[in-house]
Amino acid sequence: MGTHTRKPIIAGNWKMNMTCTEATVLVETLKSAISGEETCEIVLCPPFTALSTVRDLVEDTLISVGAQNVFHEESGAYTGEISPSMLTDLGVEYVILGHSERREIFKEKDGCINKRVKITLSHGMKPILCVGETLGQRESGETMALIQSQLDSGLKGVSAEEMKNIVIAYEPVWAIGTGRVATAEQAGEVCTGIRKHIAELYNDEVAQDVRIQYGGSVKANNAAAILAQEDIDGALVGGAALVAEEFLGIIKA
Ligand code: PGA
Repeated sequence: MGTHTRKPIIAGNWKMNMTCTEATVLVETLKSAISGEETCEIVLCPPFTALSTVRDLVEDTLISVGAQNVFHEESGAYTGEISPSMLTDLGVEYVILGHSERREIFKEKDGCINKRVKITLSHGMKPILCVGETLGQRESGETMALIQSQLDSGLKGVSAEEMKNIVIAYEPVWAIGTGRVATAEQAGEVCTGIRKHIAELYNDEVAQDVRIQYGGSVKANNAAAILAQEDIDGALVGGAALVAEEFLGIIKA
């Protein structure tokens, strides 16, 4: 089975950028340039505060909206957190989980990421589960072992049926926001390894259907080579998603 069964997915992770006012300008620009004939799925992941604004702006377009995280409880005394139903109520379709910045800066561990994956699925949203190695781990040859363990724990208790709603994002930590992009071959090799591991955890059919994105300094000028890799089905874009021409260039690629 070839890549033809997997619809490419380009997602913009805006991180802690964009007020509602700034988001409106960016989304209007993107909307006016998107023809509606794009063959990929386009997802915008603004900060929580701009989700509602962006959702309203993309209504009746092929753009969908994702959040950058969610808390793993339904409701309660968790000051500062956002629940799954707060997101579904806004029309949020995707949730980025286990981003390396969440793992590193906010000390989110595999166990809590797994709870978030499951609660996201149970609310009918689609997790974008991020995995990836640091430079030290790559240099000491631990890349695949680390990624396999992130997949094992992140997907614990997720059924084959639920895997249809999971997107995996391979983001080497050393390539995020550094301008130091993995070569298309390096990225492709790990994504192939991820698909193999999904086949081991589930079966070939699940592995062939799951969409795997690459993320880490993806720009308009390197997207085509990365997206041409057999096992890469899209991109999770940080910095370049804040610049309309760049993000549109990646969509066109
Ligand atoms: P970057 O970020 O494109 O700015 O490297 C990617 C990400 O962190 O999702």
